[in-house]
Amino acid sequence: MTSEGQSRADFRSDTVTRATPGMRQAIADAPVGDDVYGEDPTVNALQDRIAELTGKESALFFPAATQSNLAAVLSHCQRGDEYIIGRNYHILINEVSGTAALGGAAPWPIEVDENGSFTPEAVRAAVKEPDQHHPVTRLLCLENTVNGSAQSVNLINDLADTARDCGLAVHLDGARLFNAAVALEVPVADVLAKVDTASICLSKGLGAPMGAMLVGDSASITRSFRLRKMLGGGMRQIGHMAAAGMYALDNNVDRLVEDHQNAALIADGFRQVEDLGVRQATNMVWLTPPAEHHDGLTAHLAADGLLVCPWKPTMRIVTHLDVGTEQAQMLVDSVQNFFNQV
Ligand SMILES: Cc1ncc(COP(=O)(O)O)c(C=O)c1O
Repeated sequence: MTSEGQSRADFRSDTVTRATPGMRQAIADAPVGDDVYGEDPTVNALQDRIAELTGKESALFFPAATQSNLAAVLSHCQRGDEYIIGRNYHILINEVSGTAALGGAAPWPIEVDENGSFTPEAVRAAVKEPDQHHPVTRLLCLENTVNGSAQSVNLINDLADTARDCGLAVHLDGARLFNAAVALEVPVADVLAKVDTASICLSKGLGAPMGAMLVGDSASITRSFRLRKMLGGGMRQIGHMAAAGMYALDNNVDRLVEDHQNAALIADGFRQVEDLGVRQATNMVWLTPPAEHHDGLTAHLAADGLLVCPWKPTMRIVTHLDVGTEQAQMLVDSVQNFFNQV
């Protein structure tokens, strides 16, 4: 915060965006109905549009991706089954172990490299032999982007082929799928061509106040529809929020490239300073300052009204709709000023 207690720019996450006037108008104007009865025309239109865009049979609107991921995993796994997942993936460490707590599906975490990727061989090695002592390995959970790193279409396809060969279904957590597709310069449908189900956030880089879409084959989405109801995700005149999603698809996809450019600008600025660890991928920058300066830098940025995730040892900085090139440059200047003084 500045001395007046104001933040000038919030780089903690791309979830902090507020609906623009155009999006608010779209929310207000949306025709709506009771979605539990399947009668909300805006929800139905958004579901049809996302299904077509992703090349899948069916799509379902959820309040949040934690719930769409949970419904997807439970649609593939029975109690006592297990799923293979990268050891730092969101479903494993940031979704309250919902799959285990509510569905009895256990994760089997595997190592990832610095880009959040793992190999088809690692998947094959993780699948349990049929044996009375073993859980049944039922599902592979992928993520794209992983902490900003886009996973290539070839890698996703190879992993999905391997999973299928081993008798597993494939779910992909695509909270930032559009960032991945924009960075890879491919249609989103290409990224999802071989996965069974995928969850896509409207409330991150796309700038909507809420919402996630689950896409997949009709049978998986039918199972997920019942699970959504069980999990308390049946909503009524939610077309107002689906309208925000529609508006986001029209206006906020192509501009993601600006977020990636601003993240690159920030990373380049940080690299001018000696002894800083800097990684950048799509809209995320990871900054590792020398340990003795971590607290000082955090306080300095806060005093300048610049909010970041001050995690130790590595801070996270995320670009989005509400921070432009001017704010990105402010952040660079603030970090450079701090290290000029210490
Ligand atoms: C990779 C990833 N997956 C899933 C989620 C969950 O999204 P939600 O906050 O809509 O539940 C997040 C949220 O930050 C995320 O970063």
